[in-house]
Amino acid sequence: MSEDKHIRLAVIVGSVREGRFGPTVAEWFTGQARQFDQFDVDVIDLADFAPKLPLTLTPELPTEAQEALGSLSPRLAEADAFVIITPEYNHSYPAGLKSVIDWHFTQWQAKPISFVTYGGMAGGLRAAEALRLVFAELHAITIRDTVSFHGGAYAFDDKGQPRDATGAASAAKVMLDQLTWWALALREAREKRPYKA
Ligand SMILES: Cc1cc2nc3c(=O)[nH]c(=O)nc-3n(C[C@H](O)[C@H](O)[C@H](O)COP(=O)(O)O)c2cc1C
Repeated sequence: MSEDKHIRLAVIVGSVREGRFGPTVAEWFTGQARQFDQFDVDVIDLADFAPKLPLTLTPELPTEAQEALGSLSPRLAEADAFVIITPEYNHSYPAGLKSVIDWHFTQWQAKPISFVTYGGMAGGLRAAEALRLVFAELHAITIRDTVSFHGGAYAFDDKGQPRDATGAASAAKVMLDQLTWWALALREAREKRPYKA
């Protein structure tokens, strides 16, 4: 069994629209994650991939979709754990994020997934709750505690830092501690007994 305590953490930026706020949240969060020695952080910006994937799962893939999946899928497969950074769109998650989720299956299985959410009054939490149902179907484990930013862009100052920096950092630590436990436990379990779905 592996004694390696390093965790390959894929941070997925889920909003892909022009003028999006997501990268500000992602930059802050990856700065937090990189303060923890155990994480090798891979930032996966879905703006590089989601627009190239057909909305239906077709066997006749255009070349740019093949190239996108050829680059994206191995990075998802290599991850021990995921943090999904997502806004809330109409009480749920963005369509591009769902498309990328649907284009994959084994890459999510028996792995832990955390959420960093942002939006209006509800802080994007409805997107996280909707994603829990999706990932249950994909045999993934979603982590209880989230990091959520209420009030959209107003939760951040003009330097791209949360106005409640202490509260946000504390929430990130709680979430990353839980994610670490699950990432190590599930990796050991997958090594000992390959997960079959
Ligand atoms: C199509 C759309 C639908 C939205 N629906 C909601 C919503 O249901 N609840 C909410 O709190 N915020 C909602 N918002 C606000 C977004 O969560 C907020 O603007 C967020 O910063 C958008 O993230 P992005 O800029 O990274 O795309 C919506 C925004 C868009 C563009």
